[in-house]
Amino acid sequence: MSDNPVSSAQDGVSEDVLVELNDVKVHFPIKKGMVLDRTVGHVYAVDGVSLSIKRGETYGLVGESGCGKSTLGRAVLRLEKPTGGEVVFDGTDLSGMKGEKLRKMRQRMQMVFQDPLSSLDPRQSVESLLVEGMRAHGLAHDKASTDERLRELLDAVGLPPTALRKYPHEFSGGQRQRVGIARALSVGPELVVADEPVSALDVSVQAQVLNLLEDLQEEFGLTYLVIAHDLAVVRHIADRVGVMYLGGIVEESTSDALYEQPLHPYSKALLSAVPVPDPQVEDAREQILLTGDLPSPANPPSGCRFHTRCPWRQEERCDSERPVLREIGAGHRVACHFAEAIRDGELQPRSVAPEEVVPTA
Ligand SMILES: Nc1ncnc2c1ncn2[C@@H]1O[C@H](COP(=O)(O)OP(=O)(O)OP(=O)(O)O)[C@@H](O)[C@H]1O
Ligand code: SF4
Ligand SMILES: [Mg+2]
Repeated sequence: MSDNPVSSAQDGVSEDVLVELNDVKVHFPIKKGMVLDRTVGHVYAVDGVSLSIKRGETYGLVGESGCGKSTLGRAVLRLEKPTGGEVVFDGTDLSGMKGEKLRKMRQRMQMVFQDPLSSLDPRQSVESLLVEGMRAHGLAHDKASTDERLRELLDAVGLPPTALRKYPHEFSGGQRQRVGIARALSVGPELVVADEPVSALDVSVQAQVLNLLEDLQEEFGLTYLVIAHDLAVVRHIADRVGVMYLGGIVEESTSDALYEQPLHPYSKALLSAVPVPDPQVEDAREQILLTGDLPSPANPPSGCRFHTRCPWRQEERCDSERPVLREIGAGHRVACHFAEAIRDGELQPRSVAPEEVVPTA
């Protein structure tokens, strides 16, 4: 635990926030020309995200491929320098931090990747992979205590001590992800960003790895940011969920509230593609089809970024004014001008013809 927790009182309840993002932007320049290397535009991968993650909770981030989830995860760990905004970790703004200070901070936050085969050096044994991070942060003191720590780590992730002598290719996908998790834990982090931690695994082992992550969270008091395009994964593991669309969060609520009553038209569409086990709920649900491709984040639509695909789109306002994320129920934030009218059935959806996005700049 830290000496300097950030506490914010909301509704009279004191909440201990570990990560706070304020209007975070990550824009990648698009370069053209061999010699002059002119910047001809930007990819607005993350474009104004504000959210907070409480100590000990699991925040799930979902959205279509290319909406900026990984970039946001990397910005939280300061593996990506934000173009704008603040990334506050345990009360300290990391956005301008560099050098030794940042390196020290990184010990407190680690990443688990989608594909452990490409993120683990194939030439290194598990022992060497685990000791590497510990050494970098001055945690591998003498041989006896290092060996003890290695045994504890393997035990925590459910691998036998013999795994230390093996190489990444000698493991199954699920076991390899256990090695990836052990490596993240080797430096004793407080925050773990898991980017699609189970999407490369067989369905049969996905649940085992998710359960392991949950057990480890309890054992070590970890805070998680879990990124997944699979809504079932996020539902299984997350306390709260943020739905991302083209660089912004369009809805945020507890996992249960989101699955019971998604309020943003985009979340409704995402969820209506997921079958519900209860046939009565299934029959009563609105089926909303997403038409048209995700517009390019280099040329996002004006106003509400979802307006080119939204069945509830209203003239003028939706095309011209970007909706802010606002609270419309306890802990339920939605970025839609018409969220209440849609929720109360005052506006009806209609079919959407695919539309070309007109450049804004
Ligand atoms: N280093 C980079 N330089 C330029 N563009 C980038 C860079 N990294 C990501 N992008 C672009 O930013 C956008 C968001 O990418 P990102 O990888 O964050 O999306 P994602 O939601 O994680 O997608 P996926 O589900 O496919 O992993 C994409 O259009 C991507 O091409
Ligand atoms: S603001 Fe308009 S276009 Fe955007 S989600 Fe709401 S109704 Fe749809
Ligand atoms: Mg990604």
